[in-house]
Amino acid sequence: MSSLSADLALEIDRHGKESLGHQVRRGLLAHIRAGILRPGVVLPSTRALAAQLGISRPLIVDAYAQLAAEGFLIVRRGARPIVASGAARVAPPLEEKLEQPIRYDLRPAMPDVGLFPRKAWASAIRTVLNAVPANDLGYGDLRGSPRLRSALADYLGRVRGVVADPSHIFITSGFAEGRALACVVMRAVGLRRVAVEDPGYSDWVAVDKAGLERVPIPVDEQGIDVDQLIAAGAEGALITPSHQFPIGGVLSAGRRQRLVRWLEQHDGYVLEDDYDAEFRYDQASVGALQGLAADRVIYAGTASKTLAPALRIGWLVVPPELVRPMDAELRRWKEGSPRIEQDALAHLLQTGAYDRHLRKMRRIYRDRRKHLLDCLAAELPELEIEGTAAGLHVTLRLPSELTRADEAQIVSSLRERGLATEGLGRYSLTAEGPRRLFVGYGRVTDSAIASSVRLLAKAVRAAQRHELGP
Ligand SMILES: Cc1ncc(COP(=O)(O)O)c(C=O)c1O
Repeated sequence: MSSLSADLALEIDRHGKESLGHQVRRGLLAHIRAGILRPGVVLPSTRALAAQLGISRPLIVDAYAQLAAEGFLIVRRGARPIVASGAARVAPPLEEKLEQPIRYDLRPAMPDVGLFPRKAWASAIRTVLNAVPANDLGYGDLRGSPRLRSALADYLGRVRGVVADPSHIFITSGFAEGRALACVVMRAVGLRRVAVEDPGYSDWVAVDKAGLERVPIPVDEQGIDVDQLIAAGAEGALITPSHQFPIGGVLSAGRRQRLVRWLEQHDGYVLEDDYDAEFRYDQASVGALQGLAADRVIYAGTASKTLAPALRIGWLVVPPELVRPMDAELRRWKEGSPRIEQDALAHLLQTGAYDRHLRKMRRIYRDRRKHLLDCLAAELPELEIEGTAAGLHVTLRLPSELTRADEAQIVSSLRERGLATEGLGRYSLTAEGPRRLFVGYGRVTDSAIASSVRLLAKAVRAAQRHELGP
């Protein structure tokens, strides 16, 4: 309650014609009606407000009493007045989207935030706070904390084969901001047409807003079709080479080489979204594309899958030629990212706690994936599973007779039963062909997996019998 002794923004004109008490009452009323003083807000005591405004206390007592009598305030003896509910006459707040409760969360690419390493994170934050020199609490380097950029350069080189000099790394608010920034910079250096994966990570607003024209290119089990990308006359691309989202293929060695050759010949740029490479279950991850063409690839990573989306920490490793344009662009966007959190992540990386957490999560996700595949094999044995053993979801190819509408009906009927999953329609621009469901296992426990798959199988069978109907 101590913050409630804070001042109240109320202006009084000492030389005006209107009496001071009247001004207080009118000012408060206007603020309440306008919704500036919101229902439930506790106002200063009569003594505090009188002292703040430099007027006599009885005037405040009268003003409060009158507003209470009119129903705008709730006044109780010995307590500060509270703004009554229903007193504001303003437009209702923007309607909040009401989500139906999700019982089984099988949406793709969702990490288990319930297993966020709270202890390690709290201890990292404490260590950083105890050690951070006051000088580091200013705005600092626009590109992000030097400590995190250095820790990432080491980590990305070691784990992903990324060629990363800390001075080429930019810390962003997740991949979302990194992508927006990369698109604007691609446009600024002259690119106009960029290839995007179809189906792909479907939020294309960043591409459109940057003034880039997107060219949808099909993907298969070997990632994006590089020949079609080249033939389409694109000048750059946004891709997920290590684990195509959402189908799940890995860009083949042949396609990688063709893509790199083409990029070098045409001075193109690619944004490599390396969102979940830490989670590969059958063998070591293929190295990042950036390691083959550090001059032509903007590499993007994120802590959203490995730790939690709520951290909003991502990073870009930028080709040397793009460092200056990126820096210039960033200067127009912001003054940096939260420093303490960045250094806490650096601490986890440098002490090995990040690797330990990843090893633990990899084991958990691998077991869940296996359990999910076993259940699917038992309930829907004829359905093909696509994609590499990686990431946080599997791709389920639906029976060939099912249409786009069937797929949408399966998704919505499951959602009505509390099971959230996604279909191909959610991610495709033009992609037709076999229908698919993307079934995440990041957020479901073993027991929930079995029940979820039973629900899923029921929905697929119902669609096959044409029982789902709109
Ligand atoms: C393909 C892909 N890339 C990147 C991200 C991460 O985005 P962000 O770092 O903004 O949370 C996601 C999250 O769902 C994703 O699915």
